[in-house]
Amino acid sequence: MGRCPSCGEWNTYIEELIVKEGSKSSGYQWKSEKGQGHSKPVNLENIEGHEQIRLSTGDKELDRALGGGIVAGSLILIGGEPGIGKSTLMLQMARGLDGRRILYVSGEESAVQIKMRAERLGIHNPEYLVYTETNTQLIFLQAKKIKPDVVIIDSIQTLHSEDIDSTPGSVSQVRECTGEWQRFAKETGTPVFLIGHITKEGSIAGPKLLEHMVDTVLQFEGDRHHQYRILRTVKNRFGSTAEMGIYEMQGNGLREVSNPSEILISTRPEALSGIAIAAIMEGMRSMLIEVQALVTAAVYGTPQRSATGFELRRLSMLLAVLEKRIGFPMGNKDIFLNMAGGIRVDDPAADLAIVTALISSLEDKTVAPLAVFAGEVGLSGEIRPVNRIEQRISEADKLGFEQVYLSSGNLKGIERKKFNCRLIEVNKVEELVRLLF
Ligand code: TYD
Ligand code: MG
Repeated sequence: MGRCPSCGEWNTYIEELIVKEGSKSSGYQWKSEKGQGHSKPVNLENIEGHEQIRLSTGDKELDRALGGGIVAGSLILIGGEPGIGKSTLMLQMARGLDGRRILYVSGEESAVQIKMRAERLGIHNPEYLVYTETNTQLIFLQAKKIKPDVVIIDSIQTLHSEDIDSTPGSVSQVRECTGEWQRFAKETGTPVFLIGHITKEGSIAGPKLLEHMVDTVLQFEGDRHHQYRILRTVKNRFGSTAEMGIYEMQGNGLREVSNPSEILISTRPEALSGIAIAAIMEGMRSMLIEVQALVTAAVYGTPQRSATGFELRRLSMLLAVLEKRIGFPMGNKDIFLNMAGGIRVDDPAADLAIVTALISSLEDKTVAPLAVFAGEVGLSGEIRPVNRIEQRISEADKLGFEQVYLSSGNLKGIERKKFNCRLIEVNKVEELVRLLF
């Protein structure tokens, strides 16, 4: 066709051949008789398969988040805000992958910068190759020559493919480059880590664009001003998404934190008001975290409400319950709530500890120092049961706490004798006040 009927331009039509297998014959009947060159439905029982062999990264927290190690040919996306420690995490993975050939492709930092950082992290791996390049075609050329055991791309937003015209970081480039790495990983069986910056809205380069293309999505989160970082498994084709790893950012890199409770509770000689310990679950792990509240008379006109590591709307809900149920006078108070260590808490089981800390601060009375709280607070002030209560109590036991406050709904089917802690039931916030203060 000479002229395009739609845009009116001349000679813009391009011929594309569509190849059809087994042409000429009429459709599926012929194919089904011969069954040539096409896969057939197979009985699930007859498929041979086995658990994939996993490569340990030597980093227990990273292994845990990956579901037990790196699976060959998998594409793993590490997302996180700038400055949270993604490059550091990937660089220091080299320490555990001693003797493996790693290709670290950086489009963000110069080789010298990476060298300086590697020295700080104490990495001495002769097989660690740094390549500062952003053109995917050139990177694939090198990768085919080098045959690395692991490829790390820092970051996917800096790459560009010649097949596409748009600028690096644009939606189509990021999608194309990810697709190319997906094919590379599957064809060569090489695991590929893609680092992706998360935009303000929390999505990786646009609306969840990459999540369906990769096998595993790990999100690195935390507060840049605190030292603790959480590596959360958002998606995993080879493991559970309830997993997570915890790190502490130090001068010489990220340190694995195997017992989070110990760092999330500050030890102090005397009890203070406004502090309560919550037994929360983060993924499959139970941990105890210190909740701090400060309730003071508002100095300026409008009372302030501030929550760090906790959703402000949920705090408002808890305050409303307290006002309605026990006449908590909040109208003229500044209220601050803080979760220790810069950890973000979503677990509703923290409600009970938060309510306790608020009342403790308001009344300026201390809570028994060896008490732990686990319960959700409902709108009518009732304390509701939470999941995995035995795991939470065990954690409190392990750390030498003496009392666990929980909903009576959680006591059903629990053997009290199994635990050293005394289990104290509370059913309403009114009851909590009576019991504690
Ligand atoms: P980085 O890995 O560059 O973050 P990202 O790749 O996610 O943007 O880490 C950035 C921060 O980590 C930086 O502000 C300094 C800090 N850091 C340490 O505190 N200790 C260290 O050993 C390293 C390497 C970095
Ligand atoms: Mg970086």
